[in-house]
Amino acid sequence: MLSDKVANALNQHINAEMYSAYLYMSMSNAANDLGLKGFASWFMVQFHEEMMHGMKMYEYLQRQGVSVKLLAIQQPPHDFSSALEMFEKTLEHEQKVTGLLNNLMEIAKEEKDNATQIFLNWYITEQVEEEENDNDMIQQLKLIKDDIRGVLLLDRELAQRAVTVPTDYSKGIESAMKGEG
Ligand code: FEO
Repeated sequence: MLSDKVANALNQHINAEMYSAYLYMSMSNAANDLGLKGFASWFMVQFHEEMMHGMKMYEYLQRQGVSVKLLAIQQPPHDFSSALEMFEKTLEHEQKVTGLLNNLMEIAKEEKDNATQIFLNWYITEQVEEEENDNDMIQQLKLIKDDIRGVLLLDRELAQRAVTVPTDYSKGIESAMKGEG
């Protein structure tokens, strides 16, 4: 059972994950506009990861007997002038999400909600990996600078990233993550 305070905070956070998905979908489109199909593919994989993050929270609320109330998703930015700008904005955004998750953890602690603290650990660990990936990409793009051959090589490398999260939520995300549905 969740307190109203925890339930409302988690419900609100679904929106942050859905916005993340929307933001990376927009970045995928911008990369496509720049002719960087590998970057576009990488951001679309990230879109799926964010959808999964949102769905995992959606399902947790339902499993705890809470009715999810979906909120309006903000319009993401549309214009990005370079791959470096996209990853700088990605890092900035992920740092914001990390802050939101830290606040959620504080609320769960205040409410003495152990189950939600354990649930949130997964997200907090995930954020370390996401920020690390973004920092690595920014470093590489700064080293490459305007060397188009370097950008194209990286584009080819990023095209290899595969979707590793479930994308079919019809049977529930927890069972999909265990390969059961
Ligand atoms: Fe779901 Fe990228 O945070």
